[in-house]
Amino acid sequence: MRDLLAALGALRERLTEIPQADQRRLQDLKTEILGRKAGALTKILAQVPKLDPEPRRAVGAAANELKREFEAALAARERALARTARASGAADLTMPGRAAWTGGLHLVTQVTGEICEIFHEMGFTRAVGPEVETERNNFTALNFPKDHPAIDAQDSFYLGGDLLLRTHTSPVQIRTMERYPPPIRVVIPGQCYRRDPFDASHSPIFEQVEGLVVDEGISFVDLKASLSAFARKFFGPTTRTRFSPSFFPFTEPSADMAASCSVCGGSGCQTCKQSGWIEILGSGMVHPAVFEACGVDPERYTGFAFGMGPQRIAMVRYGIPDIRLFFESDMRFLAQFSTP
Ligand code: PHE
Repeated sequence: MRDLLAALGALRERLTEIPQADQRRLQDLKTEILGRKAGALTKILAQVPKLDPEPRRAVGAAANELKREFEAALAARERALARTARASGAADLTMPGRAAWTGGLHLVTQVTGEICEIFHEMGFTRAVGPEVETERNNFTALNFPKDHPAIDAQDSFYLGGDLLLRTHTSPVQIRTMERYPPPIRVVIPGQCYRRDPFDASHSPIFEQVEGLVVDEGISFVDLKASLSAFARKFFGPTTRTRFSPSFFPFTEPSADMAASCSVCGGSGCQTCKQSGWIEILGSGMVHPAVFEACGVDPERYTGFAFGMGPQRIAMVRYGIPDIRLFFESDMRFLAQFSTP
C-alpha cells in the first residue's frame, strides 16, 4: 500500500508537464498515464481490487481523485491548444481529412452511352435534334392521321402555335432524312415529354434512343438481325429475341421486340413477371409516306427504324423498381452505379 501511495505521489508530479505540452506531447502523456493497457495510473487502479478493505479504500480514493485531476488538466490543455491554433489561423494538422468527391455519370447516361456504342460498332453515327418540335415533324410528317389521340393536347405539352415538346425522338428521323441523302445509319438519343402521371413506371419527361437505317435493299431481315445482335451485345450472348406485330403510323410492318429475360434466362421470374420475356423496343420498316414527306424516293429506298427507353431498360437490367429514382439525385441510389 505504501508503494502504491508513493507511486501516486510521483505521478502527481507529472501534472505539471501538462500545461507546457504541445499537441503531440499531450497525446503521449495521455497514453503514458491513462492508456487503457499500459497507462501508469491505469495499472495502479488495476491493483486496487486486490488490496485489503482498509488500504483499498485509501488507495482507491487517491487514485480516482488523481485520475479526475489528470483528465481535467488534459482537457484544459487541449482546449487551450485549440484556442491558440484558431487565433493564429494555423491549420490543425491533426484534424481528419475530408474525402474528395469524384463525379460520375448518371446511370441513364451510362446505359444510353452503352446502347449508342453498340450501334456505333455496327456503323451507326449519332444524331440529335431539338426538344421543342413542330407538330409537322413530331406527327404529320411521321404519317400520324390528323385525329390521332397522341396529337391531342391531353397527351402532349404544347407551347403555343404548332410548337410542342417532342413526344418521341422520331422527329429526328425526319430532320435526318431531309438533311442527308441515303445511305443513313443513325442512333438518336434524347429527352422526350408526354402528359403522363409521375408514378413508379411513368414520367412526363423520359429518355429515348431512336434508330434509323435507310438504303437500297434494306429488308425486315436487316431489322431483325441488327436488333437481335444489339440484344445479344447488351444482355449477353445467349439472349434470344422475339418479334411480335405492333403498330406505329410511321412504320409498316411494325414489330415490338422482346428479349429473353437476362435475370432468369427465360424460365420466369419477378423481373419478367414470370413470362420469360422483356419488352425492349418498338420497330418497323419506314412507311413510304414518311419517305415521301422527306423527299426520299420510296421506289428506290427502304429502311427500318426503332425506338427504346434507356430508363426502362436500366430498370429491368438492374432491378430498379421506380423510375422516379432517376430524377431524385439521391446519392445513396446514384453512387451504387458510379463509374470511376
Ligand atoms: N416513336 C415510337 C414511340 O415513341 C417508338 C418507335 C420508333 C417505333 C421507331 C418504331 C420505330 O413509341
